[in-house]
Amino acid sequence: MSNIVIIGLQWGDEGKGKIVDLLCPAFDAVVRYQGGHNAGHTVKFGDRHFSLHLIPSGIVHEGMRCVIGNGVVLAPDAFFSELDHLREEGVDPQGRLFLSDRLQLLLPGHAQVDQAREVARGDRKIGTTSRGIGPAYESKVSRYGIRPCDLYSATLGERLEVLTDKQEAELGRAVEPTGEALLTACRQWAERLRPLLRNTSSLLSAWVEEGRSLLFEGAQGALLDVDHGTYPYVTSSNATAGGACIGSGVPPTALDGVIGILKAYTSRVGEGPFVTELDDAVGEQLRARGNEYGTTTGRPRRCGWLDMVASNYARRINGIGAIALTKLDVLDDCDEIPVCVAYRLDGEETTEFPSSAEALARAEPIYETLPGWKSSTVGATEPEQLPRAARDYVRYIEERIGAPIALISTGPRREETILRRELPVVQSYFGERTERILAVRDAG
Ligand code: IMP
Repeated sequence: MSNIVIIGLQWGDEGKGKIVDLLCPAFDAVVRYQGGHNAGHTVKFGDRHFSLHLIPSGIVHEGMRCVIGNGVVLAPDAFFSELDHLREEGVDPQGRLFLSDRLQLLLPGHAQVDQAREVARGDRKIGTTSRGIGPAYESKVSRYGIRPCDLYSATLGERLEVLTDKQEAELGRAVEPTGEALLTACRQWAERLRPLLRNTSSLLSAWVEEGRSLLFEGAQGALLDVDHGTYPYVTSSNATAGGACIGSGVPPTALDGVIGILKAYTSRVGEGPFVTELDDAVGEQLRARGNEYGTTTGRPRRCGWLDMVASNYARRINGIGAIALTKLDVLDDCDEIPVCVAYRLDGEETTEFPSSAEALARAEPIYETLPGWKSSTVGATEPEQLPRAARDYVRYIEERIGAPIALISTGPRREETILRRELPVVQSYFGERTERILAVRDAG
């Protein structure tokens, strides 16, 4: 059985939620390994629509086991409200949702620090989701973070004081709640969390031993990775495939492959360089057609053409074996489709993705332009249903990126998907379970 990582190849919002949801039938468990409630995963099937931030989207599949790994920063309030919402919608996570007792708790003070810092940065702000993600990871690496396993410690009050003292010193005011009120909230969270907490690294290793297959669900995207992304305009965790091991306690030797999710164009929320950005009516058209508004913050996403320099870089650092191309239908109305194949940087042509955000901001796109297809691809389930120019676009990307496109998403719903079952990589990643994926797709 295969253990596969799913990664966004751009700046997030590539449509991972739908692909993870669709592939779930081929796996026994879904593992979230980094990020926090900055992420937003949308899943649509039948007349149901779920927006998930912390809990893996696999939870909507009956019986699917879901794990939130040690690499995640978890805000208890956000987590419980998601859990309550799922229960109201008739999804029962009882006995199949497990949280690492080593993850980091994101406490209210973290969000207050995040917001104050963004205000203080003024024009140089990062455009964070204001959820407290950066400050929570900072507490972790500075070694005064609070983990679920600490909630039961006799020294919890002292540890909270160390944390809030630092936050209050930075803010110049008290965090809310603080002192006894925060301690009481933590004790309440401790009781609600208790039945869900596990040593999830051991749990996952045992499942791998039993021959179960795991799907690792990345949040954000490769270009927002704190090490490999467009630093400092990044999130504070490792969103790349390597993060799956660190953030779950499953060794690299247990992983069998990586699927990269690539949107047929590019979007970005927040600040930071974006070489192919379209600040015009075409960008607006992509935004409107692609409904490019943040799941978490509702912010309009910046939109632009596909950038093969950035995508190839992301393919390489993640070791992508197969690609899921999403939102192809959003390009249905385009007369022509430019694809960025190189950058012009300081007078030189390059296909290297620059290390510095300042250099990236100076880069100009060099485009090759493909013809549009000017007809609907919505709902296509077989490659033959796509217009010739759309098939050519898919083939062009495949050749440029050097990895097969195994899935093509032609609408937000499960049934609006092409799965190229004839590809060897599909057989190697999903084996005989490919039929299960197709059955879920066809059932809608
Ligand atoms: P933070 O993760 O809230 O610190 O935000 C850092 C950067 O990552 C900002 O540009 C955010 O807009 C971006 N970001 C964080 N989470 C997501 C996501 O799930 N999708 C897209 N962008 C995200």
